[in-house]
Amino acid sequence: MGWLRDEVLRRADIVEVVSEYLPLKKRGANYWALSPFKPEKTPSFAVSPSKQIFKCFASGKGGDVIRFVMEMEGLSYSEALQKLAKKYDIQLPAEKEISYSSKEKQQYAAIYGEAARFYQMHLKNSPAEAYLRQRGVKEEVASTFQLGYAPAEGDSLAQYLIRLGYSEESLIKWGLCLRHEGSGKIYDRFRGRLIFPITDEQGTIIAFAGRLITEASSQPKYLNSPETPYYQKSEVLYGLAQAKSHLRKGGAALIVEGYMDVISLHQAQFPQAVATCGTALTPAHLERLRRYTRELIILYDSDEAGQAAAERAIEPALSTGFFVRIAQITSAKDPDEFLRKSDSQGLAQIIQQSVSWPIFLSERRKDSSTPSQRYELLQRLGQCLQAIPDPLMRRVYAEEIAEKLHIPLEFWENFERIETSDRANPPSSIRITAERELLRIVFSYPEVEYAGMPLWQYLQEELRHFNFSEPAAEKLRKVLCDWNEPFPPTLAILTERLPVEVQDWAAGLVLEKYSLSEHWHTWDDSSTQEDPVQIAETNLTLLHLDHLQRLLEENLHFIQSLPPESATYQEHLTLHQVLLHQRAELAHRQGLILPYRKAEHPTKRNSPTNIQEEDLSL
Ligand code: UTP
Ligand code: MN
Repeated sequence: MGWLRDEVLRRADIVEVVSEYLPLKKRGANYWALSPFKPEKTPSFAVSPSKQIFKCFASGKGGDVIRFVMEMEGLSYSEALQKLAKKYDIQLPAEKEISYSSKEKQQYAAIYGEAARFYQMHLKNSPAEAYLRQRGVKEEVASTFQLGYAPAEGDSLAQYLIRLGYSEESLIKWGLCLRHEGSGKIYDRFRGRLIFPITDEQGTIIAFAGRLITEASSQPKYLNSPETPYYQKSEVLYGLAQAKSHLRKGGAALIVEGYMDVISLHQAQFPQAVATCGTALTPAHLERLRRYTRELIILYDSDEAGQAAAERAIEPALSTGFFVRIAQITSAKDPDEFLRKSDSQGLAQIIQQSVSWPIFLSERRKDSSTPSQRYELLQRLGQCLQAIPDPLMRRVYAEEIAEKLHIPLEFWENFERIETSDRANPPSSIRITAERELLRIVFSYPEVEYAGMPLWQYLQEELRHFNFSEPAAEKLRKVLCDWNEPFPPTLAILTERLPVEVQDWAAGLVLEKYSLSEHWHTWDDSSTQEDPVQIAETNLTLLHLDHLQRLLEENLHFIQSLPPESATYQEHLTLHQVLLHQRAELAHRQGLILPYRKAEHPTKRNSPTNIQEEDLSL
């Protein structure tokens, strides 16, 4: 779908597509028409050819060409995509072709394939084979997962691959071998280890993990291949190639911690198990899995680390659209050990007894019914509910929470309000404008450079440190900060990742200037001389200043509550000075004079203190 979307957006011209539905008139840089969504007399429907987006100021709708076709024809996202693909004669290449599209990837897959064959060849009669037997792994399963053995000698894989015609450089480049600093000789990365080949979803081997066979060793238990452009740990799930056909038939995915867990589960007839490659579960992992199922059962180790990791996985899983349950292993440390002590039926029971995430969260906080634990539970539940993008799913879980945890439905309706109303300071209008301006610059000037890098990347880094005040702005900021590609995100590309209301808001942000201009018919954005770098700098400074202002105010409140003779009092007074100084410096650098709200002065309300007037100026 990603490929098709990119291709459609590359080829389809929004002006051409819209013209088929509406008569467009060019005014300045944009095209205008009467809204197709609401009756009106003066045109307020705008199309920007340079940004490839539309915005209807009458109805509020806005977005890219795919969104336009969705709205006009009442189609779903993928239907609109298909329609446009057909119009522009774009054909889907076969699945294989996509994954092997580049020559380099072909070579990469070939060399990893050869290495895997080598390791597999050496399994017979090796210590790894004995080890697998001792752990109860059947030959058939070992062969499904292409398990192998890396001989203990220093360079046997290197020699084998060089004999096949691969260069030393390519073995090093792709992480199979390393070069000895002193002698300059090359040697194998994996030596004397049990080898687990790691594949992509199509089953192409792209990396290895190697486990020690003897427990007593100072070396790490598992060694992993380094990351390459074709092996990104944050995206690859071990076992997905084997699990996907089972997941497609329906049923839940089982996410576990270890390679051996996947293998033992597979052997015990739970082929829908997958694991990360020794990293935390990321949204990218979850999105991959989500293509095959919408049910997820977390089956992590029984220790506290495993349970805490399970808790951390809930929110990203919910926001990817999963129904989430947590299963708890009892009387063993992990699923693999459980299966050795018990059997498939025992595990089936554990899966059957898995609990929905709200129950898991509440059970983890069961021991204490103190207000602070209660507070924490409500907050976690609220955060998780808010992470769910589908309103119906949110409702389903809110009902479950009402029924099982006795927290009434209405509580959640007020939750957002409760949560935000206790903030001492509502966001200032300066802050809101600065946030909007920064987002507008990111999405309007993808090509501008600043500080030796693309301006959008610079802002991406900077904006990681803030939370934006408006919900739509905050969603847009998050998507921007999560953007992992080397090219800039455009509103068009983001359409797929943002809820409709945020798309509308974002399209308005980028096109708003034109509609607000009183002389819109003479307006031409090619003649305006706005300086995106300058706007970005100024507004970033404003954000930083606003942040400092908040810190100052909070600190001041704190000072008021302290006895003046305490040491803490002095510390906070010093902090106050430091913050004031920082703020002055920042403002000075940007040449800004700021219309700041004055916080109420403590000495005016309180009984005499020894704070000097100028000490506490804001
Ligand atoms: P565990 O230590 O729980 O091992 O690590 P395990 O999976 O139960 O393996 P066995 O049963 O002892 O053989 C869980 C996962 O963490 C990663 C691996 O992905 C492992 O499967 N890990 C662990 C590493 O990457 N390196 C290590 O040194 C240890
Ligand atoms: Mn284990």
